[in-house]
Amino acid sequence: MSIQTIARVEFHCADADKTAAELHADYDFTAAPPTTSADGTRSIDLGQGSIRLRLTSAADPGHPVSAYVARHGDGVAALALGCTDPKAALERAERHGARVLDREAGLIAGFGDTALRFTSMHTPGPDEAPGPDEAPGADEAAGADEAAGAGLLDALDHVAICLPGGELADAVRFCEAVLGFHAIFEEYIEVGEQAMDSTVVQSASGLVTFTLIEPDTARRPGQIDEFLSAHGGAGVQHLAFSTHDIATAVRTARSRGVEFLTTPGAYFDALTERLGRTAIPVETLRDLHVLVDQDHGGQLFQIFARSTHPRRTSFLELIERQGAGTFGTANIKALYEAVERQTAAAR
Ligand code: FE2
Repeated sequence: MSIQTIARVEFHCADADKTAAELHADYDFTAAPPTTSADGTRSIDLGQGSIRLRLTSAADPGHPVSAYVARHGDGVAALALGCTDPKAALERAERHGARVLDREAGLIAGFGDTALRFTSMHTPGPDEAPGPDEAPGADEAAGADEAAGAGLLDALDHVAICLPGGELADAVRFCEAVLGFHAIFEEYIEVGEQAMDSTVVQSASGLVTFTLIEPDTARRPGQIDEFLSAHGGAGVQHLAFSTHDIATAVRTARSRGVEFLTTPGAYFDALTERLGRTAIPVETLRDLHVLVDQDHGGQLFQIFARSTHPRRTSFLELIERQGAGTFGTANIKALYEAVERQTAAAR
């Protein structure tokens, strides 16, 4: 199968310029000059390490970009998958039942209103604006980041997608049949009276990872149900960006006003007993509210930025992997239990 990477995450935004300025100020994303299309949409490409984002907004309220924003607020309208042979990838997808939205653009229906685009690895298509790596001046900046790992963020680690209850199995089958991905991890996560099912699917290249999550509708509604109702159906809940130095990334972003979720001290009190020695000292983790998990491969460190979305739907995750290949699901439970202990202690 020819899908290799996530070439680009395509957002539809109320105001692409404003969002681009925030991503630059908060996380050091480099922006290429805005481009305006014949249909009046305005797009800005952003890059850092191997991450590529495209923000598009439309002045015309009747434009599909505006319709997306009216339905969901700002969000991921498409994930562009870098393929060695995009045409063959589209043909294969169609053979396996994918709904083609725009053949010329290589676009198929994905999850809710988040489409999937089969695109080439490097060369932009005829309608595509140059990426930051092709923009004058941005070339050296992005190249230097990638080579030296000098930026705050390195790559897109995974994309988390929320699905309505009962749709997970079909979504996994879709990823397997249409995209040629494999399920690499499955978990039923129970927290108190809430529960969710999660399956992680990945491309053969190992570079495209989707975490698919559905709520267990037999249990009490929780954060996945909240996402689905506020977003208006299935969609991208969070993007996880990998960093080679999460402590510096968190300190830097925080100094710029980015807010991250805080974690009760009880979580860190229990950490050494739960995991043994951590590669980043517990006191640093406690200070920064960074979570830890581990698997047979090693440890991972992660933190979630507080959602700045007006609907409190989407957010960013920062993750530093030191050998671990999993996704920190133990943290959902560990956090819940820490809050329980803290509440019990306060009684
Ligand atoms: Fe995640």
